[in-house]
Amino acid sequence: MTNRTTNVVELNARPAGPRDPVHPSITEDLISELVERFYDEARKDERLGPLFEQRIEGRWPMHLARMKDFWSSVLLKSGKYKGKPVPVHMAISNIESDDFRLWLQLFRKTAEAVLGQEAAQPAIVAAERIAHSLWLAKFASPFDQVPDWMFSKSA
Ligand code: HEM
Repeated sequence: MTNRTTNVVELNARPAGPRDPVHPSITEDLISELVERFYDEARKDERLGPLFEQRIEGRWPMHLARMKDFWSSVLLKSGKYKGKPVPVHMAISNIESDDFRLWLQLFRKTAEAVLGQEAAQPAIVAAERIAHSLWLAKFASPFDQVPDWMFSKSA
């Protein structure tokens, strides 16, 4: 048996569905609920709401589906999302630095409510890392300090 064949057999032998979740209790259904609740709240937020609405108006079902694939890829390593969030956010010129604080505050609250306190922690750590890299791409100069709201105290 060649190495190539062995690899194929190993891949086929993997169970279908999520691979390597950041926490064993996280499922596609919970991710779907997390995304729906996050955007329900974000759309009501007086600052974040208009930021999303201006760009996404009329395309919400597509955006929500895309975000479910994104979080499935991050939290379950499902590989469903193909895209480049950095250039997408670079193109949104009216996002301000403090908007990332509001975004993270809402994500932490929603993740804890939907996933539970324990499973939310690795999801929050992942969100903070990605938010940090988006924030760096958009705002940071080499002399900037990362704001202390970027990472949870416990992380
Ligand atoms: C300041 C906070 C943020 C704002 C206002 C914001 C806003 C937006 C908007 C308006 C879009 C839709 C762009 C379009 O389709 O035209 C978008 C897409 C997206 N956002 Fe954010 N975002 C923020 C932070 C984040 C963070 C922290 C993450 C990840 C942890 C994230 C992940 C994504 C992803 C994956 C997409 C889809 C990109 C694609 O089309 O492939 N965003 N965001």
